[in-house]
Amino acid sequence: MGQPPNDEEKRDDITIQVPTEGKVTGRLILAVLAAVSGSFLFGYNTGVINAPEEKIKAFLNSTNIDRDGEPLTVATQTNLFAIIVASFAIGGAVGGLAAGPWADKFGRKNGSLINTIFGIVSAALMFFSKMAESYEMLIVGRLLGGICCGLITGLTPIYLSEIAAQNIRGALGVLHQLGVVSGLLLSQILGFPEIMGTADLWHVLLGLSVIPSVLQLLIFPFCPESPRHLLISKNEEFNARKALTILRGYDNVEQDIQEMKIENEAQKSEAQVNIWKLLTSKSLRMALIISVVMHLSQQFGGITAIFYYSSTNFQDAGLDTNTAIHATSGVGAVMVVMTIVTIPLMDKVGRRTLHLAGLGGMFVSSILITVTLSLKHQVEWFNVATVVFSLVFVVFFALGPGSIPWLIVAELFSQGPRSAAISVSVLVNWVANFGVGYAFPHMKDGLGTFSFIPFTVLLLLFFIFLYIYLPETKNRTFEEITSLIRGEKKAENIHKDKNSTRENYLVSYQKTDINQ
Ligand SMILES: *[C@@H]1O[C@H](CO)[C@@H](O)[C@H](O)[C@H]1NC(C)=O
Repeated sequence: MGQPPNDEEKRDDITIQVPTEGKVTGRLILAVLAAVSGSFLFGYNTGVINAPEEKIKAFLNSTNIDRDGEPLTVATQTNLFAIIVASFAIGGAVGGLAAGPWADKFGRKNGSLINTIFGIVSAALMFFSKMAESYEMLIVGRLLGGICCGLITGLTPIYLSEIAAQNIRGALGVLHQLGVVSGLLLSQILGFPEIMGTADLWHVLLGLSVIPSVLQLLIFPFCPESPRHLLISKNEEFNARKALTILRGYDNVEQDIQEMKIENEAQKSEAQVNIWKLLTSKSLRMALIISVVMHLSQQFGGITAIFYYSSTNFQDAGLDTNTAIHATSGVGAVMVVMTIVTIPLMDKVGRRTLHLAGLGGMFVSSILITVTLSLKHQVEWFNVATVVFSLVFVVFFALGPGSIPWLIVAELFSQGPRSAAISVSVLVNWVANFGVGYAFPHMKDGLGTFSFIPFTVLLLLFFIFLYIYLPETKNRTFEEITSLIRGEKKAENIHKDKNSTRENYLVSYQKTDINQ
């Protein structure tokens, strides 16, 4: 490998020379596949209800005619459908809040396995609701599906961050979001009127959500539990070594074990932190605020508005209604492609840079969208420009804010408070998602073409706050990140100073320093 002239090259060389870092083993792929199936389910369930809306409403009406002999009023029908939509978010908030304690009690792997029961029962209820002529089954099915997905949005990012070697942790974290957007896109495509968005097949469309859960049920038994959970939460060093050996594909897992032990020592005084302790702890407050703001920046940045507006926008730009529905899935496709693009960037460019770049780009696009929306009657080509800027907005969303909030919370906290922190931020995400989904139609009515302005303002505020407070987490150990947030600049120095004791300890094999 000669004398590497710069860091970049040095890093590549060493990665090849010492394949111990971030080697992708078969078992790691299997574990990722099992976890990401859950993410896929989350995305699928999020998107699946939109396309067959009219068909399901007709089902509600005809069910009621069969039962009472009377048709539903438009208002009751709208309300009933809103309950079906919202029960998913309510379940999600419950599941999200439970996710942390759940992950600690059952473990990341067994916790996910048990969770498949919710997924399977939910899919069955929704599938059979049509035959049984029962919209109650549909509501309960969506509620259980929400609980399942709420747990997934907590369990999957924890599991992925804990099985990954440090130098691929970001990349694995993005796979959660890739699963989510792929699920969303597939649900949009299968929901086309030509495929399953029909009066005869909508229950099959909803019932297909059984597949990811069954996949998890089949694959997870062959995956190791998170080594970090085994060692730190359960104090099972032997099993932790075994799990690491399987995941990394080599026997000498001493460095990983040492790193976890250092983290464990540092956290001993704190022990397991429950949600209440987390909310009242001074030393963890900053990390918690950063996590919550990260999730708010995802939900309150305006992506919901883009989804909401996209088919109207496409129609304004001259597409007919049917084509507009199809073109809307183009937004989903852009998300998938961009998420794939960010996978290698996550550990090279870093989370901080990508997230801020994403927010900045969204800020600028949102201004351009407002300008083109409000002047579209004056300037003819602004219709098309709105569509283009909407897609640019989506590109920047996918660059960072789409995926990074999910993965960064697990990185900002050490083992003790990690689960509680995930619970709180996932809950915030679901509640914010529900809130903006509920509020936006009203905002649109009230503000018209200016309805993006609140998002523009919020994006600016999020950008400023995170520019000041968000630390870079790529290639840092969990313990270094925690110290950084607490304002202990020491951590930065330790990181850079190759002669410090701790560095020597950790870097007997040059891990931290090659990845700088
Ligand atoms: C329910 O179905 C009946 C009979 O087909 C129809 O007259 C009525 O308009 C429908 N109600 C709604 C809210 O669509």
